[in-house]
Amino acid sequence: MTTASEWTSVARGWDSHRDQVEQMKAPLTAELLAGLALRPGEQVLELGAGTGELALLLADAVSPGGRVMATDVAPGMVELARRTTADRPAIDVREVDATSTGLESASFDAVVFRMGLMFVPEPAEALRECRRVLRPGGRAAMAVWSGPGQNMWLTAVGMSAMMQGLVQGGPPTGPGGIFSLGEPEQLEKAARDAGFADLEVRRIAISARYASADEHYDSVEQLAGPLHLALVSATPEQRAAVKASAASLIEQYATASGYQLPGEALLLLAH
Ligand SMILES: C[S@@+](CC[C@H](N)C(=O)[O-])C[C@H]1O[C@@H](n2cnc3c(N)ncnc32)[C@H](O)[C@@H]1O
Repeated sequence: MTTASEWTSVARGWDSHRDQVEQMKAPLTAELLAGLALRPGEQVLELGAGTGELALLLADAVSPGGRVMATDVAPGMVELARRTTADRPAIDVREVDATSTGLESASFDAVVFRMGLMFVPEPAEALRECRRVLRPGGRAAMAVWSGPGQNMWLTAVGMSAMMQGLVQGGPPTGPGGIFSLGEPEQLEKAARDAGFADLEVRRIAISARYASADEHYDSVEQLAGPLHLALVSATPEQRAAVKASAASLIEQYATASGYQLPGEALLLLAH
């Protein structure tokens, strides 16, 4: 299973959960946009653009006269982003791998990678590529999830799936894992090694709200590229066990109207 097919397998889930995803990431998105301080007329490259929702905001920020190239490695996500941005001529959508974009050197004022860099097994390569395509003085904004202890909304299902023996591959903190850049020092070092200077890593608190434990489980199952196929191809008994275990892990976050699970993202800004 390649990264591209893994993420294509959840494109439908990302399409139907886009409002929930954007709402959850809203504080991060606001800091990312403020930190980048985009100006009209600028050229922006977005890597791992997913649904294309962020590309719309980036295009607003560089309007009039600016352009956004919204890219993703997964054909299913590229199709989604094309649909989302179809009526925005300032946005080009392309299938691109962050580690080898094939794009011209020094051709962008800003590069954005929101919640994708940690899935790249060689993040140093992707960061070097980002630096290569940036003009002198260009800015980068990269967001990743912090560690598993800070992100119970995901860990509750991931740990439960692991206990059922459903998770293949390395640990989620290993290369290419969702928590692989979860420490600020790791992210900062990776960017510094790739040649970025003037770095800042901020911790951003996130809150994930669900009406019920079932909604929480369904949302993670339909959005988590690396977990999705393992969960949907599990036996009914295994799936029920994962659901029950995840529900008991999130019980402490129950509210009057459902569940409010804490999360934390890291935002790297390199100016
Ligand atoms: C968690 S989703 C985030 C999507 C979107 N950026 C957002 O914040 O909502 C991760 C995205 O990164 C993409 N991705 C993973 N590895 C990639 C790579 N090597 N190059 C480009 N995109 C990649 C996936 O296809 C997926 O769309």
